[in-house]
Amino acid sequence: MQTVAKIRQPIVAEMDLFEVKFKEAMASKVALLNRITYYIASRKGKQMRPMFVFLVAKLAGEGKVTDRTYRGASIIELIHTASLVHDDVIDASDKRRGFFSVNALWKNKIAVLVGDFFFSKGLLLSLDHDDFDLLKIVSEAVREMSQGELLQLEKARRLDINEVVYYDIIRQKTATLIAACCAMGAASVGCSDEEIERFRSFGEYAGMAFQIKDDLFDYTEGAIGKPTGIDIKEQKMTLPLIYVLNQASDRDKRWIIDSVKRHHKDKKRVKEVIAFVKDNGGLEYAIRQMNRYRDAALGLLVNYPESSFKTALVDLVNYVVDRKK
Ligand code: IPE
Ligand code: IPE
Ligand code: MG
Ligand code: MG
Repeated sequence: MQTVAKIRQPIVAEMDLFEVKFKEAMASKVALLNRITYYIASRKGKQMRPMFVFLVAKLAGEGKVTDRTYRGASIIELIHTASLVHDDVIDASDKRRGFFSVNALWKNKIAVLVGDFFFSKGLLLSLDHDDFDLLKIVSEAVREMSQGELLQLEKARRLDINEVVYYDIIRQKTATLIAACCAMGAASVGCSDEEIERFRSFGEYAGMAFQIKDDLFDYTEGAIGKPTGIDIKEQKMTLPLIYVLNQASDRDKRWIIDSVKRHHKDKKRVKEVIAFVKDNGGLEYAIRQMNRYRDAALGLLVNYPESSFKTALVDLVNYVVDRKK
């Protein structure tokens, strides 16, 4: 069986019902918004975040989920969708999930407003049912995401990033939301604060591995449904490049920095930088660090008794680093 189908097996019914609820949660009375929502909803992503929510809830709740688990999953997927719509404006990216991005089709102004709409929908969904604990978890994640994207922009301007700052950026912009998925899953089935915290850490480690994998994709030419090779173009220095930069001679360092600073729009030069990163072990180093985060996540699951949910959650963490898109 295909990996994703296998991971979904213990939560198939939940994921099907989630999809119905998620679509309802996206609805609006504005015709233009509904057209765009329909466009987004018909090109769904991998839905890894709701899978984290449900699998953690089932593992922590001995096989049960609650209405709050469904709301948690919808809240997170709404926030995730909002962040992608905005992120494609920020990154001037014209492809998402194999199709044109919202900004490519409707322009930035509309994409900004559509993203705002999804953010508010996500936050309101948790308030509607007085799920204040879920609201707190997700609001903190939203704050971290904007801070992470801003920190990344600041570093792209000044080109003074290092490995520690890189981890800080990806923790804020990506890992916190996956941490929120796992915290919410646990909170939705009434876990203790200590257990919620353990799952939050689990999600954070998995989320770190997730973004390192995403940054590795940018160095490939695979069909991943979004542009590749655009991080350098946007002056985003990610782990493979940061590592290589640290190892390089002063001369090579100057060449790399000059490429990112002044020649980032020059396709040929960007290709040369990518080749340099590959030739100097940048990808291997990033893969090693990614696997360390994966192992840290898996380490937090060892004391749970074996079950189909645990197996699926372990598989999901492995899928984070093995996935092809
Ligand atoms: C993309 O997330 C944004 C990142 C944080 C790297 P996903 O890869 O989960 O996007 P979809 O929802 O599957 O399209
Ligand atoms: C993650 O960063 C974006 C968010 C946290 C929304 P990227 O800019 O690398 O994500 P992709 O590659 O566009 O999906
Ligand atoms: Mg992007
Ligand atoms: Mg990316």
